[in-house]
Amino acid sequence: DLDATLQRIAAASDLTTLDAERVAALGKSGWVTALLKTLGQMSPEERQVRGPEIQGQRAAVADAIEARKTALETAELERKLATERVDLSLPAAETPRGSIHPVSQVMDELAEIFADLGFAVAEGPEIESDWYNFTALNMPETHPARAMHDTFYLEPDGSGETRVLRTHTSPVQIRAMQKHGAPIRVIAPGRVYRSDSDATHTPMFHQVEGLVIDRNITMGHLKWTLETFLKAFFERDDIAIRLRPSYFPFTEPSAEVDVGWSMENGRRVVGGSEGWMEVLGSGMVHPKVIAAAGLDPDEWQGFAFGTGIDRLAMLKYGMNDLRQFFDGDLRWLKHYGFNA
Ligand code: PHE
Repeated sequence: DLDATLQRIAAASDLTTLDAERVAALGKSGWVTALLKTLGQMSPEERQVRGPEIQGQRAAVADAIEARKTALETAELERKLATERVDLSLPAAETPRGSIHPVSQVMDELAEIFADLGFAVAEGPEIESDWYNFTALNMPETHPARAMHDTFYLEPDGSGETRVLRTHTSPVQIRAMQKHGAPIRVIAPGRVYRSDSDATHTPMFHQVEGLVIDRNITMGHLKWTLETFLKAFFERDDIAIRLRPSYFPFTEPSAEVDVGWSMENGRRVVGGSEGWMEVLGSGMVHPKVIAAAGLDPDEWQGFAFGTGIDRLAMLKYGMNDLRQFFDGDLRWLKHYGFNA
């Protein structure tokens, strides 16, 4: 039995076969185990003779199994070393990396440019009260300008206060003046909402508001600030701007700001003055707005401006469909994405 077992162990071609041999000999009902059990019924004299013999057989089987196991494992390792290899000349697998969305990129650029001019960044809620979004900005309930905003209204919450998704970043003017008083210099970038959708309008888009309140602020300061900002943003010195008289309830006088464009390589780019396009709304903050925010309009005055961030991004980076900004198409994001 021992010789046969040792032969089979030596011939086992894999670890599974080898383990079957171990069970057949040393397992619970293996033949070596059965022999070991007979020791109990033997006389002491007989046991003295048979004991070492049986233990010797058990050790021989265990040693043979161990030796065969090592041999099989070594063979397996050698086989792997011979057949599997790593080609160190292959290019490494690419790890996908995130990138900055163009809107975030432009918001960062704006914050940086205006920080150099001494502007801090202010914030306000996207769910805004009717008072901040309209009334405090000199648009009482019956004001016709309200109709132009395509406002999303929220369900009444029982507080008696009408809530809206803010239609512009101008309510942050009021919040910033209330919080910090005057003098103040802030920009307020963020999401705004209007019920409108086509290639150049999405129901959610981004604006940046600018506000300067101090003593003796004039439209000259406004014009210089916008010119300086547009030059820095479009990274060109040949930026021409034009202020056209306009109307906003919260500024008086109000001006729409056009920037000059010209054709370069068949594309319309900002710079020069072959034509004009509107990029900003602006004006001197209306005394009623300053008063609504709790400041004395006889002491404080200033200017405000507002513009679409998405629009600025399109002009600077040559995009043509606003809706793609918010589609989340990875190919588009990859094409226009900026590295952190
Ligand atoms: N809030 C205006 C808009 O959304 C822009 C604006 C801001 C105009 C500040 C004047 C002053 O169109």
